[in-house]
Amino acid sequence: MSIRLRMLLSYTAMLVVTIGLFIISGLLMILAITGDMGSIKHLFANHYSHKPITAQEESVFLDLKYLALKQPEQLLDEDTLKAYDEQLKDVSSALIIRKGDSFVYKTDKLKSIHGVKNLPKFEPSNIHIRDTISYGKYYFSYVKFDFYFNDKDLGSIFVIKKVSPYVALSKNLFPILIGVLLILLIVTNGILNFLVTRSIVTPLSALKLATQKIRDGNLNFKVTARSNDEIGQLSVAYEEMRQRLKESIDLQLKYEENRKELISNISHDLRTPITAIKGYVEGIKDGVADSPQKMDSYLSTIYNRATDMDALIDDLFLFSKLDLKKIQFNFEEIDMVRYINYFIEELSWEFEEQGIEVRFHINENNHELVIADREKLKRVFVNIIQNSIKHMKSHEKIIEFSIENTNEFIKIEIRDNGNGIEPTSIPHIFDRFYRADNARNALTGGSGLGLAISKQIIHEHGGDIWVESELRKGTSIFFTLQYAKKSEGS
Ligand SMILES: Nc1ncnc2c1ncn2[C@@H]1O[C@H](COP(=O)(O)OP(=O)(O)OP(=O)(O)O)[C@@H](O)[C@H]1O
Ligand SMILES: [Mg+2]
Repeated sequence: MSIRLRMLLSYTAMLVVTIGLFIISGLLMILAITGDMGSIKHLFANHYSHKPITAQEESVFLDLKYLALKQPEQLLDEDTLKAYDEQLKDVSSALIIRKGDSFVYKTDKLKSIHGVKNLPKFEPSNIHIRDTISYGKYYFSYVKFDFYFNDKDLGSIFVIKKVSPYVALSKNLFPILIGVLLILLIVTNGILNFLVTRSIVTPLSALKLATQKIRDGNLNFKVTARSNDEIGQLSVAYEEMRQRLKESIDLQLKYEENRKELISNISHDLRTPITAIKGYVEGIKDGVADSPQKMDSYLSTIYNRATDMDALIDDLFLFSKLDLKKIQFNFEEIDMVRYINYFIEELSWEFEEQGIEVRFHINENNHELVIADREKLKRVFVNIIQNSIKHMKSHEKIIEFSIENTNEFIKIEIRDNGNGIEPTSIPHIFDRFYRADNARNALTGGSGLGLAISKQIIHEHGGDIWVESELRKGTSIFFTLQYAKKSEGS
């Protein structure tokens, strides 16, 4: 059963139950008041004609009735009638006696009643004794008794009372009113049903459509919430789910693309040294290396190429483990100033050999602790320094280290006065396999993984890494690390 039908049924049921309960409680109330089941049965049919008259009216009416039956001539006596009329005055009723086609007595109060024409006809059986009549714009309710005067003239007694015009009006309009009320109820029911189902069914249909789209692999649409209610919240949640799904699928596609690119790069980078090794081995086999010097040179080239491959495979392995987040980080608190000093000391021999002057700018009192993994961080420093060494051709080779403390993190700069990087290459140097000079040969060595690995390591530390470089002036690599505990006042 559809929600629309269910709502319609529930509204209708509610309506029927309400009307039913209303009727039942009304009937019970009447039963409680009258104590008579029969009165309920004839309630509507007899309501108007049996409308009870006051005790005063009743007693006057009975007296007059008695007179009409026993001494009808008395009803021609004006004084007697006036006395009765006087009694009726107290209850705002009045007396009319009709004889034949004229009034024998008509109270002064009922000026609007003129002529007997509109009064109900004589009826010897006295069945319809109570009703409502209208004279012009006025309405009157009456009790009537028909009798014969001694001279066989037709006589009628009316105890008559002016009533609100609405009484008669409502009597005539009652069935129409009930009909209109029912129609109104049905229309209201219909409108309510329409409004409620529209606010539920329409967004549900939209969600159904969206689900079908997702099932068919289409995620390029938007689910908009039209309301703030539960259904609106569902739409918002649905839209969030669609966005996440889209993001994750896009990411997957990107990964897939990356994987393909990675495989192609790896095969290229492995093939180059292998081809060279094969060439030299073939040379040896063919007897090209015919002197011990040549043989020595061939063998050392083979060895160097194999070593390069080994290093490349190591880098690849590390890179892929970092990429898959499968590498363990042993974070500890490190004093960066001491760490860099130690690092410089360790590499001092290499710096000396390369003729590099090392400068370390620090604020001596500044011994902020950072959170880092010693080994991985060393890898970052080595990668950056190696690049600097590789790209320094000037006579005066300088590498400078500086530490800057900001409120949120510690910023480390490693600056060289080397060749610098082409501005077009700057955004790419942290990409894997990227080599700015495109020297995919043995001259500069390297696979283009050094900075990609460094970037991953720094990101794992919750930091950032970037470059500033000017051609022929030098390059600065910056990276940030998080404080272990921010000391007071700094
Ligand atoms: N200090 C620098 N001066 C000039 N160019 C640099 C510097 N550092 C990096 N580059 C450029 O950025 C590129 C990428 O560096 P990256 O360390 O990732 O790779 P690589 O040094 O070529 O290879 P690997 O580090 O894997 O041996 C380098 O090829 C180089 O062109
Ligand atoms: Mg490098």
